[in-house]
Amino acid sequence: MHTKLLKLLEKEQERQKSTLDLIASENYTSKSVRRAVGSVFMHKYSEGYPGARYYEGNEFIDDLENLAIKMVKKVFKVDDKAWHVNVQPPSGSIANLAVYNAILKPGDKILAMYLPDGGHLSHGWSYTPTKERTKKEKEEMESSMVYYGGKKKLTLNSKIFNVVQYKTDPKTNLFDYDFIRKLAKKEKPKLIITGGTAYPREIDYKIISEIAKEVGAYYLADVAHEAGLIAGGAMNSPFDYVDFVTFTTHKTLRGPKGAVIMCRNEYADKIDRSVIPGFLGGPLNHTIAGITQALFEADTNEFKEYSARIIRNAKALGEELKKKGFDLVSGGTDKHLLVIDLTNKKVLGKKVSRALYLAGIVSNKTTVPYEKKSPINPSGIRLGTPSITTRGMHPENMSELANIISDAVDVAAEFRKLKFTEFQEELENDYRIKELREKVRKICDQFPIE
Ligand SMILES: Cc1ncc(COP(=O)(O)O)c(C=O)c1O
Repeated sequence: MHTKLLKLLEKEQERQKSTLDLIASENYTSKSVRRAVGSVFMHKYSEGYPGARYYEGNEFIDDLENLAIKMVKKVFKVDDKAWHVNVQPPSGSIANLAVYNAILKPGDKILAMYLPDGGHLSHGWSYTPTKERTKKEKEEMESSMVYYGGKKKLTLNSKIFNVVQYKTDPKTNLFDYDFIRKLAKKEKPKLIITGGTAYPREIDYKIISEIAKEVGAYYLADVAHEAGLIAGGAMNSPFDYVDFVTFTTHKTLRGPKGAVIMCRNEYADKIDRSVIPGFLGGPLNHTIAGITQALFEADTNEFKEYSARIIRNAKALGEELKKKGFDLVSGGTDKHLLVIDLTNKKVLGKKVSRALYLAGIVSNKTTVPYEKKSPINPSGIRLGTPSITTRGMHPENMSELANIISDAVDVAAEFRKLKFTEFQEELENDYRIKELREKVRKICDQFPIE
């Protein structure tokens, strides 16, 4: 390997080893997953599907793709005859686009979760810049429970489709299913999507499926975040209720970056044709190999225990943070992630996530429901436990972690009035942040990564 590249790789390895990753969408893969992803499978072009390729030499790639599909069905316990699997999408966003491309026409209506509440860009996003917003638009963004979008269409799907977004109840920050039902009846969408990046609670797939049936809509459950927790039996499974499921393979499922689409058999051809030629030439066979290895790992009792412990850790961390006066969106969590509204701490997400990083804890800033600030400096942070659980941490380790987080936030609050660069300089030199960094290093040594 070229020394310049090797140096970068070693630096990134050291960064990962010596920091605690609390980003809810990240994880550490096993050496076997990394070996599969770095394997000779990457050399092969295999446009098409098993048994129907455009290139010669695909007999083992066919076996690989069939094995991946078999393992997806096994791990998610779906009826082999009722469900179809496509393992080729290179990312969750492309998987979602491929579902839209398969079943929708330009101009069709999609009903999905509001992005600032924790929805996802790939479900559609548009907005009107603050200065150009009408009173009605301002109200829609700040207080209404439905958002009809703005002038600036940021995502391809918002340019093509008519995206309407439902929000959470402002009092509970939970979905109000009666409201979603009324909205669906009024809007008559062609597709209803559930799922997001920062909704800390279970989603009632059964109720949404009833609503979808009542209004004649397809139902897509995007379980990008929850896939590993569903596979491990720690969260509810959507498969009895939905038409389509998409998920990423690199979050709680602990595989390489990639994605999978699952659909009821009747949509199999539409989905396959939408993926290729709709979006892809050749699939990333090395990624499919890595996903297959991750699925074998997910098909074990160890993974069952792992996925349950991810949630126990998140709940324990949430309870410890509450004791320190942190305000958790929706009051807690049913899964691997916590969203913290920092309003009562008087310091916002951008400074807090940087303060935590200087102390060795990697997180991300995030908007909170009914956010009044900009997404560049929003009111919240999101914390997740998949990676620290892979490191071997348990609920009893969460109080030490909560103490470190709380102490770092207190230091950040002290210097909150400084400009961002001055704030960062001040914290870099602050002895308390240095002490917290040392504590984090010790935890990392105690719970090493592979
Ligand atoms: C709910 C949801 N859907 C889709 C995606 C997109 O996945 P990718 O980053 O692989 O495009 C994400 C990623 O965070 C997600 O959280």
